[in-house]
Amino acid sequence: MIAIGSDHAGFPLKEKVKAFLDEKGIAYTDVGCFTPERYDYAISAQKACDKVVSGECDKAILCCGTGVGISMAANKVKGIRACCCSDYFSAKLTRAHNDANVLCIGDRVIGAGLACELVDVFLNTEFEGGRHQSRVDQITAIENGEKLY
Ligand code: RB5
Repeated sequence: MIAIGSDHAGFPLKEKVKAFLDEKGIAYTDVGCFTPERYDYAISAQKACDKVVSGECDKAILCCGTGVGISMAANKVKGIRACCCSDYFSAKLTRAHNDANVLCIGDRVIGAGLACELVDVFLNTEFEGGRHQSRVDQITAIENGEKLY
């Protein structure tokens, strides 16, 4: 199960990504927003990320105007590794190397075609582990207030 959410600026892109997920037969839960009226991105970020951290959802897709604000909010939730992506390589590598569990995309930055490609590669790339595991562990250590130096 995938959580999907947006603010008002990301709402049109969220709806297009949902159509893509429907086409692919990928189950999702939409945490809103549900209209183009003003809706602040931190609320959707927290709602979607809470579902990932609880285990109800495996990953989340978040949309705002740039993808940036909603990724900043998402990364404040303990256990979340969110990446704002506008290119294919980053969307793939943030899974393979960073074990990202949230993809953030910007309606005002990329078109729906590219956005769906990013979603597709993000959802279909496995974390490589190995030498990358200890680096992800260091991110978690920072989150837990530990000093790395
Ligand atoms: C909303 O106007 C816009 O600021 C927001 O969607 C996002 O781009 C922030 O990072």
